[in-house]
Amino acid sequence: MSERDFLSLDDVSGGELSALLDDADAARSDPASFAGRLDGRHVALIFEKPSTRTRVSFEVAVTSMGGSAVVLRGDELQLGRGETIEDTGRVLSRYVDAIVIRTFGQDRLERLADAADVPVVNALSDAEHPCQGIADLMTLRAVRGGLDGVSLAYLGDGNNVAHSLMLGATKVGMDVRVATPRDYRPDPEVVARAHANASASGGRVTVTDAVAEAAAGAHALYTDVWTSMGQEQESAPRRAALEPYRIDASVVALAADDVVVMHCLPAHRGEEIAADVMDGPHSIVWDQAENRLHAQKALLAWLLASGSA
Ligand code: CP
Repeated sequence: MSERDFLSLDDVSGGELSALLDDADAARSDPASFAGRLDGRHVALIFEKPSTRTRVSFEVAVTSMGGSAVVLRGDELQLGRGETIEDTGRVLSRYVDAIVIRTFGQDRLERLADAADVPVVNALSDAEHPCQGIADLMTLRAVRGGLDGVSLAYLGDGNNVAHSLMLGATKVGMDVRVATPRDYRPDPEVVARAHANASASGGRVTVTDAVAEAAAGAHALYTDVWTSMGQEQESAPRRAALEPYRIDASVVALAADDVVVMHCLPAHRGEEIAADVMDGPHSIVWDQAENRLHAQKALLAWLLASGSA
């Protein structure tokens, strides 16, 4: 039986995604019902980039479901001394039941997944952040009571978080609008996949450089840092280009009266989001952060359930 990996939000169907959101809601409302789901199971958590939320929420998710987590920084592994990612996957598969990894290129993740005999989970790559995407959709669904037809405007850098939001939201019938400067648009291949998802689900995708076009009447406004991990050398030109895409009170005023403001965190107040918006009445960022835990419990329980592969 081949294992099921989770490298992209495009790795699950719309039905599977909705079921994961239901399970995540159950993990939040009745945590005791998830205790014991990973009894006797071991999960390697590899972080080749820094993390606060993802690392802690995965470790707590595994241990609170009865499993054990082996948390490793990339520089603690022989990867740093030339062992291949494929050999690392083959060896870890002999010890653990799943590998969760935060890494760089999506190709590195795919090579690990191809070589490993256990499920591999993308805990953020340069291309996608699908675990964040599940928590985002869970959070928004709880606010709106459903996702079909719900509009979300993502403003800023067309990065990994934007990609996962586009792929996930279009699987569940949402109206996703992405406003970025021309030089920071999302990957055209991801945009094409999102359009295909939207055609199948009845959703909608708009990519524009106009903030007002994206934000008009939106049910949710979303942003992320302008300089992602590994892009620190580019931070000055990024700040200059992305300045008009900050979510501030003027952008909130364009959206629906009951708009919610989302951010995957960490946030840079005064850059991609104004402090009074981040800490204001529309913000649901702390629920979003909490839901990483519940969403990841649901994901791991599903991937490691006997018969799910
Ligand atoms: N949102 C997110 O992935 O946070 P961390 O980088 O702290 O894990």
